[in-house]
Amino acid sequence: MELAAVILAAGQGTRMKSDVPKVLHPLVGRPLIAYAVETAQMTTGNTPVLVVGHGAEAVRETVGNGAVFVEQAEQRGTGHAVLQAREVLQGQADLVLVTYADMPLLTVKTLRQLVQRQQENPGPITMLTRVDENPRGFGRVIRDESGAVIRIVEQAVATPEELAIRELNAGVYCFDADWLWANVDRIPLSLPKREYYLTDTVGMAAAEGLRVEAIATKDAYETLGINTRVHLAEAESALRCRINERWMLAGVTIIDPATTYIEPDVTIGADTVIWPNTHLRGQTTIDEHCQIGPNTIVVDCEIGKRCRVRASVLEQAVMEDNSDIGPFGHLRKGARLCEGAHVGNFGELKNSTLGPGAKMGHFSYLGDAEVGAGANIGAGTITCNYDGVRKHKTVIEEDAFIGSDSMLVAPVRVGRGAKTGAGSVVTHDIPAGAVAYGVPARVRGDASARRIETQDEGPKETEEEGEGGAG
Ligand code: UD1
Ligand code: CA
Repeated sequence: MELAAVILAAGQGTRMKSDVPKVLHPLVGRPLIAYAVETAQMTTGNTPVLVVGHGAEAVRETVGNGAVFVEQAEQRGTGHAVLQAREVLQGQADLVLVTYADMPLLTVKTLRQLVQRQQENPGPITMLTRVDENPRGFGRVIRDESGAVIRIVEQAVATPEELAIRELNAGVYCFDADWLWANVDRIPLSLPKREYYLTDTVGMAAAEGLRVEAIATKDAYETLGINTRVHLAEAESALRCRINERWMLAGVTIIDPATTYIEPDVTIGADTVIWPNTHLRGQTTIDEHCQIGPNTIVVDCEIGKRCRVRASVLEQAVMEDNSDIGPFGHLRKGARLCEGAHVGNFGELKNSTLGPGAKMGHFSYLGDAEVGAGANIGAGTITCNYDGVRKHKTVIEEDAFIGSDSMLVAPVRVGRGAKTGAGSVVTHDIPAGAVAYGVPARVRGDASARRIETQDEGPKETEEEGEGGAG
């Protein structure tokens, strides 16, 4: 049976008091609209039809090819909104799901139950309801003495008796497509708002003597519609709880779920521990047995097994197995800590690789640098990678030992096992095994290395020897 979905997103969302269209406000790192689109797509297996109006251009741009768009030029009610989808969908599907763009916590599971009920009891409509002591302005479900649903009454026009009803219309429906397309343009105009209410289709079906089915959701959050920023914050916290629970049940320890912010696309391996005030965002993957946090932000990173990240900020970086950073480390775009590498406090890497087992303990910056295995980057080392116009590369080969407070003026290469003295300003390559120090740094004590430098800068030989004598 072919299943289509229509998502209503044309409303203005005035109560958000925002220049940004309501459905583009971010919720746990994604635009609000993304949730309804994904849920509809997963339920039906088809690209949903999105009815857009206010902020249509921005919404189209954000959703891209995630939906088929139809425009509701004037917002004349939910019934009128669904009518806009008829041209695209008539003859394409047997059943039509209708949901709202501003109901992000509705689940695929509930929509599947709605569809299943409709398939088991083929009538014109199966609707979703919720029994709640707090009616939040929802339409009330009116049943007759036999218990059959006969109508929905909007709060604004309900009688006191109707207002006392606690069975609420969620605004989510599964329609028989033929019945819907034959009737959606027959909805009467409702006063005083002069709108065409989709809810009136329920009364129309009942008046024809057709049975309207209803199923109820027990989860209040599923039907939470975002109208204000207060609702947005409620949804944020509810969604965060759901995500955190999912990871805890999958074997992740979360010390304090209330201060742990995990976005929907993040994945985490079992036996990893997330400490308080940690934000895991974007396309981040974390493997097993890691310790992450406290006070950490990780965005779009790949973190291997048994890694440790304390009070640090990581963006578009990779940490291989057994590497660690922090406290107060910063990995920026293109940083890679290879297996077992260590970055201590106030270390920053950008577009740089710290080789296997290499160490950078304190107050250092590596930009556009490649550091070999086992190298040691002394406290306060800086790669001077930017000359004001272009970025240049620094290569530090394996087992090199960079003395504290060295300035490596790129482009420059420090050879395998070479050493720099504390406070050196390295402006020329240092051969493997050599020791260099001073400002600017000169190679000392190694005959072969001195020969190389002599060829490069013969005239400075005497100066170097004088310095050497003094040192
Ligand atoms: C609607 C239902 C109400 C239900 C409630 C649940 C109607 C008449 N009422 O009321 O019974 O309890 O949802 O949340 O349907 N939209 C359009 N075009 C329009 C009008 C609305 O696309 O012309 C969209 C809005 O962007 C929104 C959705 O439809 O996503 C719901 O519209 P809204 O005006 O918020 O309806 P409610 O007053 O919440
Ligand atoms: Ca609403």
